[in-house]
Amino acid sequence: MPHVSLEGREYHYARVGAGVPLVLLHGFPFSGESFWPQLDQPLAGVDLIVPDHRGFGRSTPGQGPSTMEALADDALRLLTALGLPRALVGGVSMGGYAALAAARLDPARVQGLVLIDTQALADDAAGQARREATAVDVEQHGVAGLTAGMLPKLFGPHASPQVRARVEALMLAQSRVGTAAASRGMALRHDARELLSRFAGPTLVVVGEHDLITPPERARQMADLVAGSRLEVLEDAGHLAHLEQPARFAQVVESFVAALPR
Ligand code: MLT
Repeated sequence: MPHVSLEGREYHYARVGAGVPLVLLHGFPFSGESFWPQLDQPLAGVDLIVPDHRGFGRSTPGQGPSTMEALADDALRLLTALGLPRALVGGVSMGGYAALAAARLDPARVQGLVLIDTQALADDAAGQARREATAVDVEQHGVAGLTAGMLPKLFGPHASPQVRARVEALMLAQSRVGTAAASRGMALRHDARELLSRFAGPTLVVVGEHDLITPPERARQMADLVAGSRLEVLEDAGHLAHLEQPARFAQVVESFVAALPR
């Protein structure tokens, strides 16, 4: 897996396929490996770039909370290192929060957005307190408690045992320091509704019909804010729709990319 050096930190990424650059950012608490179907079978017409966020997978942690702006800045620096002035920026859940932060930090470099099982809303005070409690628990006891608490909410009713097992193993492999920093970083994220209402680039919103964490009404809210956006609700999928319905997910991304203005 190649990496770039960002302020002395190793930032690892995978890259497959050829076509329109799309950087896809993973959710919490996973790594880039959580896009395994898309990495194993490249999306037609897409140059897919999948980093491990700081403190996840093989990437070195940063200092302090991993804010969504910090995750976005890392991804934008990777694009610079790869010689890409612009790219589609997308992400699943926390990765979607980071994609929205990229559109806030440097809109000229975000050709379009691919928002998957995510939302525009920020945490309320109770949500922020839960993030801090999660961070402290992970620091003290590791990621097993977080994993056990999240797993039942991640899948639709028919998710395969293989997908469930691989997702669980991925979660259990993440570090305490990276996971705690990202939990604190998500608590600090901004409400993105105003940003979305001003965003002029092509936008694809994808959600699993059974997503319990960021349900379809949150996806619809985002799609309603962006003029000309596409909303795709994937049947028989939960919060990780790209893993439960990879063939359907590939179709919707490929058709979105094929329709981009040239
Ligand atoms: C994720 O999948 O990234 C998280 O569930 C996002 C969140 O907790 O808000």
